[in-house]
Amino acid sequence: MNLGVLISGNGSNLGAILDAIAEKRLDARVAVVLSNMAGAGGLARASKAGVPRVVLSHRDFEGRAAFDAEVVRVLREHDVDLVVLAGFMRIVTSVLLDAFPSRVVNIHPALLPSFAGTHGQRDALAYGVRISGCTVHLVDTGTDTGPILAQAAVAVAPDDDEAALRQRILAREHELLPTVLQWFAEGRVDVEPSPGARSRVIVRGVRTAFGLAIE
Ligand code: GRF
Repeated sequence: MNLGVLISGNGSNLGAILDAIAEKRLDARVAVVLSNMAGAGGLARASKAGVPRVVLSHRDFEGRAAFDAEVVRVLREHDVDLVVLAGFMRIVTSVLLDAFPSRVVNIHPALLPSFAGTHGQRDALAYGVRISGCTVHLVDTGTDTGPILAQAAVAVAPDDDEAALRQRILAREHELLPTVLQWFAEGRVDVEPSPGARSRVIVRGVRTAFGLAIE
């Protein structure tokens, strides 16, 4: 399974994917890392792992669709099977989604459908929830609205600030994302498209609790 990992920042989830591959917990290869930010820390991780890197600034394109068309070209050039949005801070269009139907995955730092958007941890904290977590889901044209593949929960401590909660959630992200990618690698994920409604996702042979597989 060839992964195309899209990033904008630090790339710790990319690092978790690369670690899982190195430790043979994930039967895949990262075929290309694409960043829309030239300074993204994740590019250094990719370089260290010998993974091809591509920087595409969205500012060089007239609109999201034109940018996504070039993203698709790069992903196809590298024979990508599954696209992973790992801290990619751009809304994607149907240009990308139609090129990789039911094969674009995102990780979000909150328990969707609560706290979608850019500040999942901050919004959860401000709301006063006692439990938060992370969600891996298929991407659709909405913001963090696609069918959920798996979730993992963390407790929110009374004295948590945003940074503390972010770190606690990130630790779970780093477990959850490679786990879900391995489900794809094993061909366990079936998606039943439902025109006009939410697609149904079935993960065969895996019972889950808090995003952890129970065998
Ligand atoms: C993560 O919190 C992820 O859930 C969100 O963006 C952040 C990316 O972190 N979508 P990193 O770049 O993988 O360290």
